[in-house]
Amino acid sequence: MEAQPKRKLFSAVQPSGAVTIGNYIGAIRNFAALQDEYACLYAVADLHAITVKQEPAALRRHTLELLALFIACGVDPEKCTLFVQSHVPAHCELTWVLNTIAYPGELSRMTQFKDKSARHADNVNMGLMDHPVLMAADILLYQAALVPVGADQKQHLELTRDLGIRFNNRYGATFTIPEPFTPKSTARIMSLADPTKKMSKSDENPNGFVTLDDDRDTILRKFQRAVTDSGAEVRYDTEEKPGVSNLLSIYCAFTGKTIEGAERDFAGKGYGEFKLAVGEVVADALAPIRAEHGRLLADKAYLNGVMKRGAEAAARIAYRTLAKVYRKVGFYAGE
Ligand code: TYM
Repeated sequence: MEAQPKRKLFSAVQPSGAVTIGNYIGAIRNFAALQDEYACLYAVADLHAITVKQEPAALRRHTLELLALFIACGVDPEKCTLFVQSHVPAHCELTWVLNTIAYPGELSRMTQFKDKSARHADNVNMGLMDHPVLMAADILLYQAALVPVGADQKQHLELTRDLGIRFNNRYGATFTIPEPFTPKSTARIMSLADPTKKMSKSDENPNGFVTLDDDRDTILRKFQRAVTDSGAEVRYDTEEKPGVSNLLSIYCAFTGKTIEGAERDFAGKGYGEFKLAVGEVVADALAPIRAEHGRLLADKAYLNGVMKRGAEAAARIAYRTLAKVYRKVGFYAGE
């Protein structure tokens, strides 16, 4: 029997500064885990990043840093296609076509658009509103079947599916309709300072998030300060104990243990000991990633080569899809 070609998988992360353990647990850690089973494409979403103000020099630096971080987190550039979104112009070209079947009503209802418009009230631009259409273009261009993302991106993925189905219905079968890959207990890592809020690098309180380049002492300190509750029992209960439950999810993500196993580990132990143990597990797991990240960043030529080869490989697939789209919508291609 002939081997089936691997199904495609796409995901991307914005190069908008520090990467948190929320990004890592919710998305990036799954990138390496899925690379043998799927034909994976991973992008640094710089086109998305400029929908909020970026300092140009910092954006350039963060782009290279994020590409290196993917590799430091175990993504193998020999197995996966790693590239920078703006290096493949087809992303913008397909966005334009998809814009003609996307409605302002559905875009202005997106939770992230509403949140970001409130946070950046001085810069509510068209790109911010169009963010999910560009994301749909990213995914549909590669005929991706699976998209590993955190829970906050699930609404955008629903829109991607809607736009793909809408296009297929109007013009005939063109796009694969993707599914999200969002394991439940790690889909939404919460702030350490306020466990009712998502962990986010844009939190003004730096104790709310841990980044992949925080050093050991900083990590331990942030976990020691993590908000728990007035009880004393280490038990998973997101309603009654959101802080403790979040720490348990983080502990399990880094140890591979089940929640029940983790609860047993801390039976009869106090919150102080628990928080120290979670901090240590996270610091131990991040140390080799930090070291590898530093090593990779010292070899710019290698990283530039990876992203160049990645953009070429991505463009080959992307332009096949785009040619099909242009034909379906009736663009005249000459004789
Ligand atoms: P971004 O850059 O904000 O976040 C990158 C990934 O991290 C996940 N994430 C979390 N997961 C769990 N808990 C958290 N606290 C947490 N915070 C962030 C996000 O869900 C995401 O998976 N629009 C996207 C980037 C993007 C993309 C794409 C993703 C552009 N094109 C195509 C998938 C497919 C974004 O802003 O993610």
